[in-house]
Amino acid sequence: MTHSHLTEAEKKELNDVAKAIVAPGKGILAADESVGTMGKRLANIGVENTDENRRAYREVLFTTDKKVGTNLGGVILFHETVYQKTTDGVPFIKLIKDMGAIPGIKVDKGVVPLAGTNGETTTQGLDGLAERCKEYRKEGCMFAKWRCVLKIGDGMPSQLAVMENANVLARYASICQANGIVPIVEPEILTDGNHDLEACIEASQRVLSAVYKALLDHHVYLEGTLLKPNMVLPGHSCEKKYTPEQVAAATVTVFQRTIPVAVPGVTFLSGGQSEVVATVHLDAINKYKACKPWALTFSYGRALQASVLEAWKGKKENVPAAQDALIHRAKCNGLASVGKYEGEDAASTAGGKDLFVADHQY
Ligand code: 13P
Repeated sequence: MTHSHLTEAEKKELNDVAKAIVAPGKGILAADESVGTMGKRLANIGVENTDENRRAYREVLFTTDKKVGTNLGGVILFHETVYQKTTDGVPFIKLIKDMGAIPGIKVDKGVVPLAGTNGETTTQGLDGLAERCKEYRKEGCMFAKWRCVLKIGDGMPSQLAVMENANVLARYASICQANGIVPIVEPEILTDGNHDLEACIEASQRVLSAVYKALLDHHVYLEGTLLKPNMVLPGHSCEKKYTPEQVAAATVTVFQRTIPVAVPGVTFLSGGQSEVVATVHLDAINKYKACKPWALTFSYGRALQASVLEAWKGKKENVPAAQDALIHRAKCNGLASVGKYEGEDAASTAGGKDLFVADHQY
């Protein structure tokens, strides 16, 4: 029998945590930018990338009025943030729990090249992962994230990249579950390129079907996992434009063909879409009438934080405006996650701003 390595109680806990993260109207705030990535975000608003400035920024996020937790089931942290506190000495993990959200942790150690490919990558970080999972769980983290990156283009994703990334995601997921941590499995297909929607449908099907084959081969308990995929979108520089309904149809169709019903939820990455477009697409996916046996919600980094960063600009007096921006975006995405978003005035925020970064690192 598979999963015999997990007790019934362990399985139940993994499934309960996964379901709580994607409860109706809730999604994830991905605040797990590595030191380098956070530095780029801070540079955009003229703030220096110091330990204290990263901590101060995360304090803005986590001291937001608790009502933001109505729309946040989970928050993904980067290693240093797990141990940080407010200036008054309150641990960030406590603030996240007080909002009613579950703390999570990014455990991968970034992408590295796959030799002999056209710039394709795998993701490293398996060494010592079991010990790190134990340690993070002691600190209160109940779920983890591991990001793999795939590209569309001339012969890409290659079979090597598809197989290697599926396997490393499965290995990561298996180690997490053995240590009581819900793995969020993230195979991100980048939007870099001018390919059409059809090319992303093809690539997404290949990638997701390989991921689920590998997860099952590794005896991963699917009920205790979440998937963090890209939406099925045309390339960033594709000339043909598609409606949100076309994106929704493509995304749901690919999922119906590849994601087992056992998986409790899908938490999309925003992948460089503007804040408003990411919300409009999520809403269209949830409004799309079809068999969708999973929660379909958000796990956004850029599309939840762009307006927050722009409002904050590193200044104390701007903290309330920055926190209002977070509450607003979380609320819009919470509504979109149940197909009840009714639009907004994008002009007042970074809402309409393209957040695309070529060959994006996290
Ligand atoms: P974006 O929403 O900015 O694409 O990032 C989410 C994330 O966590 C990628 O790993």
